[in-house]
Amino acid sequence: MTVQVIETQPIEGQKPGTSGLRKKTRIFMQLHFLENYVQSIFDGIDGVEGKQLVVGGDGRFFNDQAIKIILRMAAANGAKACIVGQNGILSTPAASHLIRKLKTDGGLILSASHNPGGENEDFGLKYNGPNGGPANEGTTDKIFERTKSITSYKILASGDLDLSQIGTTQVGNMQVDVIDPITDYADLMEELFDFDAIRSLFASGFSLRFDAMHAVTGPYATEVLQNRLGAPQGSVVNATPLPDFGGGHPDPNPIWAKELMDCMYSDTAPDFGAASDGDGDRNMIVGKSCYVSPSDSLAVLADLAHLAPAYSAGLAGVARSMPTSGAADRVAEAKGIPSFETPTGWKFFGNLLDAGKVTLCGEESAGTGSNHVREKDGLWAVLLWLNILAKKRISVTELLKEHWQRYGRNYYSRHDYEAVETEAANSLMNDLRRRLTDLPGQTIGALTVARADEFAYDDPVDGSHSAGQGLRVFFDNGARVVFRLSGTGTQGATLRVYLEQLETDPSALDHEPQHALADIIAAADQLAGITARTGRNGPDVIT
Ligand code: G6P
Ligand code: ZN
Repeated sequence: MTVQVIETQPIEGQKPGTSGLRKKTRIFMQLHFLENYVQSIFDGIDGVEGKQLVVGGDGRFFNDQAIKIILRMAAANGAKACIVGQNGILSTPAASHLIRKLKTDGGLILSASHNPGGENEDFGLKYNGPNGGPANEGTTDKIFERTKSITSYKILASGDLDLSQIGTTQVGNMQVDVIDPITDYADLMEELFDFDAIRSLFASGFSLRFDAMHAVTGPYATEVLQNRLGAPQGSVVNATPLPDFGGGHPDPNPIWAKELMDCMYSDTAPDFGAASDGDGDRNMIVGKSCYVSPSDSLAVLADLAHLAPAYSAGLAGVARSMPTSGAADRVAEAKGIPSFETPTGWKFFGNLLDAGKVTLCGEESAGTGSNHVREKDGLWAVLLWLNILAKKRISVTELLKEHWQRYGRNYYSRHDYEAVETEAANSLMNDLRRRLTDLPGQTIGALTVARADEFAYDDPVDGSHSAGQGLRVFFDNGARVVFRLSGTGTQGATLRVYLEQLETDPSALDHEPQHALADIIAAADQLAGITARTGRNGPDVIT
């Protein structure tokens, strides 16, 4: 098969964000757009000649076509082999696991995560390195630089591939292994957790509803929860992955997973509810009439992970992203283990995990994971919760109450203002940044500012410096508000406002978070002039 060298020129807007490149699907489908970016990835990692790559995605519209283009390009660029999930399917954590297990040179993951899918919705592509984790900033910078100077890309002239049959084929001189995407991952879960304990929990009548949101975790959850652990048939709902996720927004939070929330807050709620996102790395945990915030979930898991076999020796340390609440820090402190605060983005956890400094990581954006892979992992989080509940035999509500009584409660909420005009969002942030040094001592409504800064991170492993990671304002009563612009949106800007207040009074642990945080919410608006500058009366999404 002939290698074609196609002339091209740089295309604007190929800067990777928090998690790879995300754009409208139609943009990815434009002439040369995908090809330019794939060639830039290959060039940014010093070529793929002789290398092995894992390739897979969350099954959204354009997934299979894009994979076929990537395979023809990998072959033309001299790759030795590509390992591809059957029908192009691999959840993000399963891809991370395969990269590690097969010791490949990394992989390409096709997903826009929790963003809607379809011809008129979103698509994405990212490169993960040989450790199985998202490329670090140094590599993504190189890839971006290449997108600005590219003049040609290589692709095999033809080769229609069949990704539906498990087995080995050739594309040009490159070997393509189409593999079952589920088994390796399910086996890994079985190594980490006490499946016998979880099986007997289900056998005792414990009920579960796992909402796969028509996305990639459907087949994974069906295999693990129903087939291997004995949860009743029908426990996994919306289990068939669809190219447009059934028209939904596959983001496991109380807004987008409303169907599950309604069920969990009804009289017929099962004991445990959970959901995952488009590509299977996020999770939501909810008990009977009891939503568990991602920050609390991380803290509970850090506290009780030792009940699962893989973590029985205890944790080396815990890491959280800066906007995530400090609840996990309090657990780490009590256990005498280190805690780390990183910028938003799972890629920052990779070095800490590789260096053995932490075992568990988590983010307010519904991501939790451990050193078993180098991505966050939705189904893993669900299984760790189930393992803990199987050992403790108490409800989610009781578990949370116990936790708050012991450690205090970090009341927490995130307010998102979506698709804000980019100029307005930038000037809001720039103006606030300029005023940060004047804020300490100022009284804002009921609160007084203690200190304010812009978060920057010095990686303790490789010494790299990441600046501009969010504006933080701390108040003298211990409350905190953080302002950040999202790095994953595809339309205008998304302003994220993260609100937090620690409460240790045992009689004040049962308030509704929006109520408990009312003063901080008002102060945040006053500080940044959100209503005035965005013209919005309130956030679009509250988590
Ligand atoms: C992705 C990343 C996460 C990150 C999240 C939110 O899911 O993998 O690590 O926390 O996006 O990012 P954003 O920049 O939109 O707040
Ligand atoms: Zn995701």
